[in-house]
Amino acid sequence: MKIKKLFMERAIQLANNGIGIISPNPIVGCVIEINGLIISEAWNYQCENEHAEVKAINKIKNDSLFLKSTLYVTLEPCSHLGTTPSCVDLIIKKKISIVVIGAKSPFIKSRIGIKKLKKYGIKVIENYLHDQCRIINKRFFTFYEKNRPFIILKWDQSYDGFIASSFKKNECISNIYSRQLTHKWRSEEDSILVGEKTILMDNPELNTIKWNGKNPVKIFLDKELSIPNYYHLFDNKQDTIIFTEKKIEKKNNKIEFIQICFDQKLLEQILFFLFKKKIQSIIVEGGKKILEIFIKKNIWDESRVFISNKIFNDGLNAPIVNGNIILKKNIDTDILIIKSFY
Ligand SMILES: NC(=O)c1ccc[n+]([C@@H]2O[C@H](COP(=O)([O-])OP(=O)(O)OC[C@H]3O[C@@H](n4cnc5c(N)ncnc54)[C@H](OP(=O)(O)O)[C@@H]3O)[C@@H](O)[C@H]2O)c1
Ligand SMILES: [Zn+2]
Repeated sequence: MKIKKLFMERAIQLANNGIGIISPNPIVGCVIEINGLIISEAWNYQCENEHAEVKAINKIKNDSLFLKSTLYVTLEPCSHLGTTPSCVDLIIKKKISIVVIGAKSPFIKSRIGIKKLKKYGIKVIENYLHDQCRIINKRFFTFYEKNRPFIILKWDQSYDGFIASSFKKNECISNIYSRQLTHKWRSEEDSILVGEKTILMDNPELNTIKWNGKNPVKIFLDKELSIPNYYHLFDNKQDTIIFTEKKIEKKNNKIEFIQICFDQKLLEQILFFLFKKKIQSIIVEGGKKILEIFIKKNIWDESRVFISNKIFNDGLNAPIVNGNIILKKNIDTDILIIKSFY
């Protein structure tokens, strides 16, 4: 039987449906194929609480088909009994002939799965389209391998490199497309962080109103608790975490106050708290100071920068990052996506 790229690519395409929906679970796509034809396919979706492999397998009613079939899955199948039955045991029970796996799981306890499949005579092909299969789960892998959320730094800058103009307050840099894309990006991440000055100056809502998707958890730093409570941040429409140096008992159903020390380890304290809370990703949307906390420590994964054709002549300089450009696109303004060397 010939292993074909096309089937794993389809599994990756299916897995991508889960971005922004199923965190903290990984996104997974699965395709079952016989003689070049897909006979079943699925992706994991939180509400149904079933793994992609189980869903794809259960759609096939004629068990004799499994003997001739190849199962493609983007992430190593689970082998532990969790809230759902083990995918490895189901694959063995159904006597699937070949299993093609994209990326290995970061969990040691899942690792026995491949050995078990082989022990039962199933041919296993590992690391197939490995890089692509890892990238789709970059949030999940970063979280478990680095013990912190995946970090995206995002800002808009003028053609001459400013994130704010000296002359016009709230001068818009982006356009309607980039604003909508920003809302799509927000919907894909677990949380969003902005600096205190940005909040005081721009009073942002930090929602996804221009896109059909979930709202991220709002995070902000308010050392002295100086942001007035009539600001959008306190509108109670989204879960909100406020890091402060003040001791505060106040509790509100959607707003959580966390006391930390605003010292050299500020970033580490924030990331550790988010890790414990299972927040797998964060999009940092400026201003300059807050972005530079991440850049100076070299703790970030991706930068997404909109470069418009407006000229400001003077203002607040945009941050500078070093990394590999992984995407350059134009939607009336240039979009650059840069991957950290870190
Ligand atoms: N173009 C864009 O994409 C974009 C996006 C967002 C904002 N902006 C613009 O950026 C400007 C605001 O940026 P900004 O750089 O002035 O402020 P900022 O990054 O929004 O906020 C930084 C704030 O965090 C505080 N902070 C507390 N602890 C800190 C620490 N350990 N390290 C660094 N900061 C700490 C700072 O206090 P201290 O002042 O005491 O240091 C400061 O008030 C506004 O004009 C806004 O419109 C542009
Ligand atoms: Zn599973």
